[in-house]
Amino acid sequence: MPSDAALRDWHILGAGAIGTLFAHRLANAGCRVVLLSRGDAEARRTLTLDSGGLTRQHTFPMSPPGDPTPIPRLLVSTKAAAVDPAIHSICHRLQAHSTVLVLANGMGFASDLPLGLTAFRGTTTDGAWRHPAGHTVQAGSGTTRIGLPGVAMAPPDWFRDSWGRLRDCQWDNAVETTLWRKLAINCVINPLTAAYRCRNGELASATYRPLLTTLCSEVSAACRAAGRDSVASSLREDVLAVIHSTAQNRSSMLQDVLGGRPTEIDFINGYLIGHPAVTGLELPLNRRLIRAITAGQQLEDTWP
Ligand SMILES: NC(=O)c1ccc[n+]([C@@H]2O[C@H](COP(=O)([O-])OP(=O)(O)OC[C@H]3O[C@@H](n4cnc5c(N)ncnc54)[C@H](OP(=O)(O)O)[C@@H]3O)[C@@H](O)[C@H]2O)c1
Repeated sequence: MPSDAALRDWHILGAGAIGTLFAHRLANAGCRVVLLSRGDAEARRTLTLDSGGLTRQHTFPMSPPGDPTPIPRLLVSTKAAAVDPAIHSICHRLQAHSTVLVLANGMGFASDLPLGLTAFRGTTTDGAWRHPAGHTVQAGSGTTRIGLPGVAMAPPDWFRDSWGRLRDCQWDNAVETTLWRKLAINCVINPLTAAYRCRNGELASATYRPLLTTLCSEVSAACRAAGRDSVASSLREDVLAVIHSTAQNRSSMLQDVLGGRPTEIDFINGYLIGHPAVTGLELPLNRRLIRAITAGQQLEDTWP
């Protein structure tokens, strides 16, 4: 049985915006955090976080790929496409009792872990972005939910001793439904804002109403086909709530498109249309948006 202190050891794979935010939050909660580097790196790295007008710095130990030390608890906070390759790169350091927690948006990754491990999943409405000068800016405080998809269980000891100490971080017995709800909302807001280069709030305008209605209908139909009726029935309301509460925001997909980076579309709308229960549905607007975003094309015609 690991000691309480050992339950607070976390290795972080993907110290970008969200990884930096949680490295700071976990360290502030008394956890020992180690950053996993992709190549030969310095022995320690100082990460700077701007949050609520304050600048905080923490210096974390770094662990290079050749380090053979076992990893008891792993947080994966890369973009969706990097989750599987990143885990693969350190799989020799995982053990049968290691805990793997994936905090990336979308679905369709981390389903085939080594040693028969099952990934815990987290989803957060915290926001952070990487400043070109190298530091991370916390854009907003939200809620983080963590659980084991498909398994209703009491929070494990590691949750109680680390993540459970963070403000607004909850154990979620139905995290799979939570992930589907987030996926469905992202399937509507992310590709529309990215394809039409608009902020979230603009989707509520009359210009985008036909597109919003059509896309909500398609995504709801897909969710129903996948057995996610509760997600489907509240989707339009949920989408409008997020559009209003984040009206000034640029979605992460729009930021990726504007920054010339690959988007997470394959793990959001791509996951939805490729789901085995959904393949009989046409979902033409989803397909059109996926094509446009994959090609980096900006759409102008706002009729579905
Ligand atoms: N940012 C937010 O506000 C926010 C909010 C909610 C959810 N999310 C989700 O959280 C995930 C991460 O987003 P993010 O904004 O933090 O992205 P990000 O800033 O691009 O960070 C991803 C990090 O992963 C690193 N990485 C990629 N492959 C790796 C590997 N094999 N080994 C080690 N590190 C690796 C990247 O390194 P390089 O920089 O060297 O490429 C980068 O530092 C995404 O799924 C996103 O949708 C983000």
